[in-house]
Amino acid sequence: MDIELLTNDKNIIFIYVIFVGVVQDFSSLFSVDPFSVSCFAGAVGGAFGWGGMELSVVPLHNHPEYMMDCCRLINEEWKRSDTARLHSLQNSCDKLPTSLILLQGKNLIGHLKLSVIPSIKEACFVESVVIATSLRGKGYGTIFMRNAEEYCKKLNLSAIYLSTKGQEQFYSKLGYTECPPISIYGSYIPKSIAPQNVCNKQKDDTVKHVPPPPPLPISTTLKTKKTFMVKQLSSSATVTKI
Ligand SMILES: *[C@@H]1O[C@H](CO)[C@@H](O)[C@H](O)[C@H]1NC(C)=O
Repeated sequence: MDIELLTNDKNIIFIYVIFVGVVQDFSSLFSVDPFSVSCFAGAVGGAFGWGGMELSVVPLHNHPEYMMDCCRLINEEWKRSDTARLHSLQNSCDKLPTSLILLQGKNLIGHLKLSVIPSIKEACFVESVVIATSLRGKGYGTIFMRNAEEYCKKLNLSAIYLSTKGQEQFYSKLGYTECPPISIYGSYIPKSIAPQNVCNKQKDDTVKHVPPPPPLPISTTLKTKKTFMVKQLSSSATVTKI
């Protein structure tokens, strides 16, 4: 079979066969010669085992047509009412919070949210990281997180925090290291300055008069049993600060 001559990587053959056999609307891709297609698939698919369709990471608020898909994707993982979820997603904006979505072609396959950390202005908190169930374990999460980091650098953020219960190894490979728990938000934050409202909030005198919130009792943060992790964002892609 001449497909085997192209490569002996099973992934690439698989992708190639999928391209040829199933996908009908790839005429533009096939206007290039098969070798280019296989190189393209090899470069990306070989490394990660994904289907070779173009991946992109974009802010949800620039693509509101994905709002319902995004809502469903997250709610499949963490049950919540669609109304509450949509309300939260609709806060996405150019500052923070921002919901980033991972698209494969025109399909939404991932979501993550970058939130404000009230006490650490130059950092953000990444949460609600989810990849479509059927596509896990193929490296999409890694690609997504790397892109999110680049996005954060463009926002001039210098660090990303997160908390996880079970995905420590995944984030560790991406350069995240364990850190003491941080307060992200809590019921003590007055609604007027809660992270969800940051975008719509202009300079507002009322904010100044809000007394500083009392420190979160340590027991509250400890009993979550989540691991907090942080990654410093450097301008050089090759340097990972510890
Ligand atoms: C980030 O910092 C650069 C240099 O200080 C500045 O030109 C740019 O406007 C900043 N970007 C944002 C999103 O604040």
